[in-house]
Amino acid sequence: MSFLSKINKDKTPKHVAIIMDGNGRWAQQQGHDRLFGHNFGVESVREVLKAAQELNVKYLTLYAFSTENWNRPKMEVDGLMDLLVRSISNEVDELHESDVIISGIGDLDGLPNSCKDELNAAYERTKNNKGINLILALNYSARWELTEVNKKIAAKVQSGKLQLSEITDELISNELTTKGIPDPELLIRTSGELRISNFLLWQIAYAELYFTDKLWPDFKKEDFYEAILDYQSRERRFGMVSAQIEKNL
Ligand code: FPP
Repeated sequence: MSFLSKINKDKTPKHVAIIMDGNGRWAQQQGHDRLFGHNFGVESVREVLKAAQELNVKYLTLYAFSTENWNRPKMEVDGLMDLLVRSISNEVDELHESDVIISGIGDLDGLPNSCKDELNAAYERTKNNKGINLILALNYSARWELTEVNKKIAAKVQSGKLQLSEITDELISNELTTKGIPDPELLIRTSGELRISNFLLWQIAYAELYFTDKLWPDFKKEDFYEAILDYQSRERRFGMVSAQIEKNL
């Protein structure tokens, strides 16, 4: 029986973030170069997006390229950028038809023009849609994001536009690259690595973490349903005790 039938569709997370890991190992296990794995990873993106749409998830954030990924061999970096541009360009019509809003987070100015332009065009085309938000984290790292926020806030304090007493949790959230996007309730990482790798460090303060040994190109709809079901089995206490949570229900 599919995990889907066991999911309570009224209690799915609004925002799921995913560290799509294991493309390189998947390719190497089959005697291919790493780009082969990234290419197959796109099919998993398609499947997971569809599963998320079925479950009324409103935001799906995918860690597609970190600031550290520039350190990979040039051939892989170029191939990944090319794949991102091609994927957005090939998929945008269908995504638009299924009401998806495509956007990016991260240091987008640092991306090659081709990638920046494709992403901007996809955003302009889909920004008025009402369905799921597909958010691509590109040239993203949480430390970069938090450093930028610190600089922005410090500059406002220095110029007298902001008082120290006005710096709150909410003010910081509104300076992040994820401004306006609710925090993820669930973070999934594939490939068996038990790390966060500089992803959404502020935003995942209360997220449930789900790790699976599946490599990203093997992660399909059923695996996504399984992760959602696991999430639904957890008690989210936000620092309170169980009795308080039950009372609030
Ligand atoms: C991590 O696997 C994966 C990436 C750095 C890239 C993810 C990109 C895609 C799935 C392709 C395109 C995505 C979109 C949104 C169109 P890894 O290379 O680190 O694998 P390894 O840990 O086995 O080496």
